[in-house]
Amino acid sequence: MAIPWTPALAIGVPEIDHQHQELFVRIERLVQGIGKGNAPDIEHLLEFLSQYVESHFGAEERWMLRSAYPEYSRHKGEHERFIRDYDQMTREFQEKGPGVLSGIRMNNWMATWLVQHISRSDMELGRFLADKIASGDLDGP
Ligand SMILES: [Fe+2]
Ligand SMILES: [Fe+2]
Repeated sequence: MAIPWTPALAIGVPEIDHQHQELFVRIERLVQGIGKGNAPDIEHLLEFLSQYVESHFGAEERWMLRSAYPEYSRHKGEHERFIRDYDQMTREFQEKGPGVLSGIRMNNWMATWLVQHISRSDMELGRFLADKIASGDLDGP
């Protein structure tokens, strides 16, 4: 049950679009890993995805700072909430074992969050950056 990245989710900044595609790939691997139920593998996949999520959020936040994006705090707040929820889920997994993780639930939660976040908040950022680049206020990617 792969979560598809589609061109409709492209925000127009190649670095960020590439990272979004990679996020979907890593979520898919995690969901498959949960399906197999091997705890050390799941632990590794959770960590593998978490590192990528953090570096991706960091990349977007750098774009926001460079462009003096007015919605920086709100957008960063959404990222922080996701990281908190993800960490909470990881802790539950570490305390209670793979039984607490359901691949379907995880897939639904992340797919919904990611698609909504990309199509609203990241898209809004993409439009802002495109305007700034077009008006010569910001160097292009
Ligand atoms: Fe993003
Ligand atoms: Fe974002």
